[in-house]
Amino acid sequence: MKGIILAGGTGSRLFPITLAVSKQLLPIYDKPMVYYPLSTLMLAGIRDILLISTPADLPAFERLLGDGSRYGVRMSYAPQPRPEGLAQAMLIGREHIGDDASCLILGDNIFHGPGLSDLLESAARKAEGGRASVFGYWVDDPGRYGVAEVDSSGRCLSIEEKPARPKSNYAVTGIYFYPKGVSDIAATITPSARGELEITTLNQRYLDAGTLDIELLGRGFAWLDTGTVDSLADASSYIAAIEKRQGLQIACVEGIAYARGWIGADRLREIAATMPATSYGRHLLRLAETAPSTNPLKQL
Ligand code: G1P
Repeated sequence: MKGIILAGGTGSRLFPITLAVSKQLLPIYDKPMVYYPLSTLMLAGIRDILLISTPADLPAFERLLGDGSRYGVRMSYAPQPRPEGLAQAMLIGREHIGDDASCLILGDNIFHGPGLSDLLESAARKAEGGRASVFGYWVDDPGRYGVAEVDSSGRCLSIEEKPARPKSNYAVTGIYFYPKGVSDIAATITPSARGELEITTLNQRYLDAGTLDIELLGRGFAWLDTGTVDSLADASSYIAAIEKRQGLQIACVEGIAYARGWIGADRLREIAATMPATSYGRHLLRLAETAPSTNPLKQL
């Protein structure tokens, strides 16, 4: 199972904040935005991850995430010269994906909720067995997203990209699981009216073939948007409220790696020593004193 994080785009809705910095490197409370989708892939059990961004921003991501060994995964990097659509990630990532199933996550999507790890692992298994999965989330303004029409037994009937008249309130979130062969299918897509290879078109191919499942995320989940200054601030407040209340960290990549047995306590202490002045660093130290099996992050 291969992972791809797509962290491209110009971030124009956040100008001037994103004139010199990639949107996906902005802080969501106490850590860079990209930690959240990265941790989501890790919770799905994915350890081989390609990060795609603009040629200008890639070096900063590499500086931040390195080769991934610090948190027990393998990171690689590839450029997307122009924002030509989410489905293009599956073409840029063709070699990385190889003959495996894959999961694409958008670098600005934040997921948090009970049982997330199980849901993701089950979608990963289904992708390995030949079925694609998307996740639906009830929103008040579905027309801004891909929208899924779902019948009473939870079957996906249609998906439309930013429809003027949405058939439901279920937005299709920015995490997608595909069986092997996704790059070949992505290669048959032509650009939409907005000049992009739409992820919705790719999902429609699986829907038409009868191999697409939708999983609805319940009300207890948070799927947070970071597209505007207000939603960015709201996402930070949400993370701050929960982290401060619990004294735990959300999207702590080293913590997840430790809980999964991908890195040991010594590595955790080493990393904590590089950031002693932060609650993130102190959290890592505390984790290092706890057996991975009793690590509360396991319950995420
Ligand atoms: C993209 C997809 C859309 C999806 C959304 C999730 O929208 O095209 O289907 O619901 O991501 O974040 P865009 O960011 O291109 O507006």
